[in-house]
Amino acid sequence: MNYDQYLNSRIAAVPPSGIRRFFDLAASRKDAISLGVGEPDFKTPYLFRDAAINSLLDGETQYTGNRGLIELRNEISLYLSGRYNISYRPETEILVTIGASEAIDVALRALITDGDEVLVPDPSYVSYAPGVIFAGGVPVPVETRQEDNFRLKAETLEKMITPKSKLLILPYPNNPTGAIMEKEDLEAIARVVREHDLLVISDEIYSELVYGGHTHVAFASVPDMLERTITINGFSKSFAMTGWRVGYACGPEEIITVMNKIHQYAIMCAPRQGQVAATAALRIGRENNYESVAVMRESYDRRRRLMVTAFRDMGLECFVPYGAFYVFPSIQRTGMSSEEFCSELLKEKNVAAVPGNAFGASGEGHIRCCYATAVDKINVALERIGDFVASRS
Ligand SMILES: Cc1ncc(COP(=O)(O)O)c(C=O)c1O
Repeated sequence: MNYDQYLNSRIAAVPPSGIRRFFDLAASRKDAISLGVGEPDFKTPYLFRDAAINSLLDGETQYTGNRGLIELRNEISLYLSGRYNISYRPETEILVTIGASEAIDVALRALITDGDEVLVPDPSYVSYAPGVIFAGGVPVPVETRQEDNFRLKAETLEKMITPKSKLLILPYPNNPTGAIMEKEDLEAIARVVREHDLLVISDEIYSELVYGGHTHVAFASVPDMLERTITINGFSKSFAMTGWRVGYACGPEEIITVMNKIHQYAIMCAPRQGQVAATAALRIGRENNYESVAVMRESYDRRRRLMVTAFRDMGLECFVPYGAFYVFPSIQRTGMSSEEFCSELLKEKNVAAVPGNAFGASGEGHIRCCYATAVDKINVALERIGDFVASRS
């Protein structure tokens, strides 16, 4: 049977994620070391798991309200105001979702009407552009460059704005580059947003993973931006909770209400035990100054520095990332494309990295290596990559 005539051609034409392809290839090879998927190597801290176990033992197996447990929304509100100086009302301005992934999807679907243009910094996380297309919009890549520390520049953004521009996705700390935006960088972007009357989806899922004395600034905390921003965050990265599938979106009541409509009909609610564990993560964190997050951050920081030094020692240019858990070295010196480099590295040395072009055209010439992997594995992977680079130089 030919299913092409049944399938939505716009959606069927979107290519599968380049990250998954390399992950699947690596998984099929014995002894391969994967620096591919962006997933913490820590287990969810015990006390968070314990809260979910107790909830199950108590027989809490029902749906929660669509917007999520009110205890969790209260904690999210306290967390965001205490940590990032942004204030959201738990009853009306916070929606608990199935990971940040669902929050991004629902925000795009609630805001885009056919043909709207969405400005997406490039390179960026793989789901934004497909999400825009699924919602009927047109993703417009906005180049970011290594010489600007992969920060989004107001001038570059402004050049890409047309009368159809409606939304900007602000993905900092950034996956795949590890770039962060300082307060002044965000203020420059805010001027453009104000002037061109844009709304912003600010994906701050790596907000806790910022290093080297830098601190995360929430875009909604920039003057006038609260009313123009949907702040997205979640528990997967900072709290090592990828499998629990809990994230959230916060924003103006009118927007969250429409987002909740999609969430209500399509999803119902995020998993209850995930929400219970997330509530415990924030409550315990508030009481002990986010001790477990700090322990994980320090460990990532050590691995970050190890990786940057190793790539530089190989003679590769490597931008110093201050956020997330990725390094994004340039492999241009080898004369290979990112795809060639990653395919041959996997074939010859059994190390999986992700080609930079999986994150957009501006990622070409780079590879993304995730350092949320055990140090002994990182050391072996770096040795193998070093041999590979030497053989190509
Ligand atoms: C920038 C970014 N946003 C969102 C997500 C999705 O996170 P979640 O597990 O909360 O759906 C990821 C996962 O890799 C990510 O890197």
